[in-house]
Amino acid sequence: MRKVAVIGAGSSKFGVRKDVNLSELTFEAVKPALDDASVSGEDIDFIPFASVGGMYEEALPAVVAAEYCGLTGAGLVRCEAACASGSAAFYTSYLSVASGRSDISMAIGMEKMTEVDTPTMMEMIGRAGSYLWEFHNFGMTFPAYYALYASAHMARYGTTEEDLALVAVKNHKYGAMNPKARFQKETSVDEVLSSFLVAWPLKLFDCSPICDGAAALVLASEEKVKELGIETPVWVSGVGYSSDTANLSKRPDFVSLGASVAASKMAYKMAGVGPGDLDVATVHDCFTIAEIMAYEDLGFCERGGGAELVREGLTEIGGKIPVNVDGGLKAKGHPIGATGCSMMYELTKQLRGEAESRQRQVPLDNYVALAHNVGGTGHYCYVTILRR
Ligand code: COA
Repeated sequence: MRKVAVIGAGSSKFGVRKDVNLSELTFEAVKPALDDASVSGEDIDFIPFASVGGMYEEALPAVVAAEYCGLTGAGLVRCEAACASGSAAFYTSYLSVASGRSDISMAIGMEKMTEVDTPTMMEMIGRAGSYLWEFHNFGMTFPAYYALYASAHMARYGTTEEDLALVAVKNHKYGAMNPKARFQKETSVDEVLSSFLVAWPLKLFDCSPICDGAAALVLASEEKVKELGIETPVWVSGVGYSSDTANLSKRPDFVSLGASVAASKMAYKMAGVGPGDLDVATVHDCFTIAEIMAYEDLGFCERGGGAELVREGLTEIGGKIPVNVDGGLKAKGHPIGATGCSMMYELTKQLRGEAESRQRQVPLDNYVALAHNVGGTGHYCYVTILRR
């Protein structure tokens, strides 16, 4: 396998993007990624395109967006791994270069969720488990699934609604500094606790919002990195993946995502690093409880110690391990197919020391970063470790 580096990264503004169609939204990510890498569309050999889809007029969004972005002719495939689609596309792009099949490939993630109303989207996402047993029979939606995890974590470890609120407060704090984020405003524990109940104990401010956005990464072989004279390549040093049962009723407990544990072990082993080596991480905070469980599943703390990390501010910049300093899914937004690529965009910028402000730039000691991207309720998981 060859060494592979990220040589270009781009992201659209996330939000309710009624001002653009899906091709224009994709272009907002693709153009800066190509410019960043100093390559053109003709240089791209292969494109895994992440989009869960089914919510907009185009049945083949990859083909339509690629034409608009001047990428026609490259190998093209749509990748679906629910909310981890972006990382699955990134991994597919990595494989195409690592295997020697492509020299330059591009992972794109795009979703335009606000094309449908909230009840329709809630149903579409809710069907992303076991439709027959759990959605059709019991009406389980995603806030309801994560509410089961939250209440189990509270019962077993004493995690409180205030602890969950602190995750939202932290992520909104960083979202307020990120010009690409959907919510660029801070929040408070009181505002989170008094927001309307979605599925107890999860309230509006415990949930990531329905959102539109796109992100793109250009990946290249070591030979191409040298040929193009790329000064700050960000190497893909570890990738781990796993999956879990469609039915949650088949899982042993509701305090951890088994796929996250397995994927992170695989990624740490491949990269030859451990949690203590990370300068920054993006974790899948689709609901606030998901960030607390991720701390534990990824080994940032002991099992049951996740809430303590956020209470002590240890996952803020200046703490033990800064997490979701782009605002996370909670405040930046979670356009499901785009999220994984957006995590790699953020980590690439951080590792190059290019966050737009000093307040949002993490200190770099080891130049190692981790992205944790979950699809469904841990139905899929990808963990990617980048290194400069
Ligand atoms: N956090 C904070 N504020 C939010 C928000 C969120 N998650 N979602 C919406 N808002 C705000 C909106 O900006 C809006 O504010 P305004 O009235 O000042 O403009 C207000 O709340 C109502 O927004 P709306 O879009 O009408 O909310 P909604 O009731 O239709 O949807 C949820 C709210 C929580 C039900 C929806 O965001 C949701 O389903 N989120 C989870 C998505 C999901 O499951 N993703 C996959 C996870 S794996």
